[in-house]
Amino acid sequence: MERQWWHGAIAYQIYPKSFMDSGGDGIGDLRGIIGKLDYLRDLGVNLLWLSPAYPSPLADEGYDISDYYGVDPRFGTLADMDELIAESGKRGMKVILDLVVNHCSDEHEWFQDVLRNPDSPYRDYFYIVDKRPDGKLPTNWRSHFGGSVWEPLGDTDKLYLHVFHKKQPDLNWQNPTMREEVRKNIEWWLDRGIAGFRIDAIANIGKAFPFRDYPVDGPDGLSGLDNMFDSSDGPGAYLTELRDKAFKPRGALTVGEVFVTDPEHIDEWIGPDGYFNSIFDFSGTLFGNNTGWHDKKKITAEDYKDCVFGMQEAAGENCFFSNIIENHDESRGVNYYLPDGEITDAGKKMLAGLYFMLRGIPFIYQGQELGMENAVIGSMDDVKDCASIGAYKISRDAGLSDEEAMAGVRRFSRDNARTPMQWDDTPNAGFTTGEPWLPVNPNYKKINAAAQIADEDSMLSFYKRLISLRKNAEYADTLVYGKTEPYLREQKNLFAYKRTGDKTLLIAGNFQNKPQDMRLPSAPKRVLINNYDEAAITGDTMRLSPYQFVVIEA
Ligand code: GLC
Repeated sequence: MERQWWHGAIAYQIYPKSFMDSGGDGIGDLRGIIGKLDYLRDLGVNLLWLSPAYPSPLADEGYDISDYYGVDPRFGTLADMDELIAESGKRGMKVILDLVVNHCSDEHEWFQDVLRNPDSPYRDYFYIVDKRPDGKLPTNWRSHFGGSVWEPLGDTDKLYLHVFHKKQPDLNWQNPTMREEVRKNIEWWLDRGIAGFRIDAIANIGKAFPFRDYPVDGPDGLSGLDNMFDSSDGPGAYLTELRDKAFKPRGALTVGEVFVTDPEHIDEWIGPDGYFNSIFDFSGTLFGNNTGWHDKKKITAEDYKDCVFGMQEAAGENCFFSNIIENHDESRGVNYYLPDGEITDAGKKMLAGLYFMLRGIPFIYQGQELGMENAVIGSMDDVKDCASIGAYKISRDAGLSDEEAMAGVRRFSRDNARTPMQWDDTPNAGFTTGEPWLPVNPNYKKINAAAQIADEDSMLSFYKRLISLRKNAEYADTLVYGKTEPYLREQKNLFAYKRTGDKTLLIAGNFQNKPQDMRLPSAPKRVLINNYDEAAITGDTMRLSPYQFVVIEA
């Protein structure tokens, strides 16, 4: 395959609101990020993805954009953004921004004009429709955040479509003028020196026409959006246009937030002629989804192996996934993937190593490198995340008690990963001198960057070792381009695979709280990474300690 700079990227996601507050208002900002660029360089990452910092009412924490050409004053100024891009560049880190164009904010000038003016030229930028003659809503679709997708357009009889929050009206991708606006905006940002985009919620732009009802699938009498999307032609035509007109001519990197797990469709998205360069592998995240958070199944080591190996196989040698264990929409990976009660440092390191050595771009979400854990959520009064509020309601509507619905929120709330970054053990973990917008996790005295920087055994130091192995000239080619071959796949709670290229590397994690023996494929040349002091190898057998993780040159 043709080699690209980003194949060897090691990415880090920054959620600006919670990364570092330089101004003391309790909200992270761009100057805060600039002040921490040396920390990121020292970690070794070379690609930064910034979640939105555009002007926004923050109904969905910035994923509701009211101006695509600016920076929200709470986050800083455009000059700060330019500086952030330049200063990152000086440290060998490229920057990608979030492209959020399935919807904008209802406070965006386009939508505001529609509200004010019945003849607004922007009316056709949105999906604005009439009620049915019998007064019923146009369709029975349930929004991603719960409740109907339809909302009255001001005090008119019309309704507008929003597949997410009601403050996020969907943009009408059938409209070529609107699509041109998106293209112009992409180019404007690329001209400012960014390397590309993480592309938000993009599969949602491909609606099924004509709008109609789909089978009811919940006690709210509504129908989940997948039913509608499954009947659509998909977003392919629009994405091909964007790729050919906006991204490709500029060599922009594109990483799509696309929830595709069907191996047959991977090529269409990220094959040689795919819409994007990469998409996230969300197979682990999606595992066990049912009707709501209350009945989502906990993933086991065996399930996780199936997810990962399935997608690695689907990617083959032509497609490049972006690999994650968490992001700003998920609970912390260590809580999600490790069994309850077994969230130890060894387990956290194993989890890190297992996904890091896969084929694809490893993305680290802020704080993951410290082993940050889920927030402590008491009641719904503590919850800020709009998706959690919707999910709680869905669970209650399904007949669950407050306590049962809260159990789902505590496990899956997006607030879990949005608590402020834990920099040190001073008040508010050194994140702000003010009142943080979301409480700091009380474990910050133990889990924080300052304590880990100096400690060779810390999570942070372990991540640094993983990153330097990926960059090591001797092994980089194998780790970036080599094949992923599952190893002893049937052996329970052993998560092992080989990466084969110029070299053969064996990656193995003992995904359980007790020792286990593993047969080695050949006499090991050397142990490259180990989260224990020793690798107990006797003949062709290695005895792995609880949650031991090793990378061995075979
Ligand atoms: C994506 C974002 C998420 C947001 C949603 C709507 O899934 O990652 O945070 O709520 O899109 O924009």
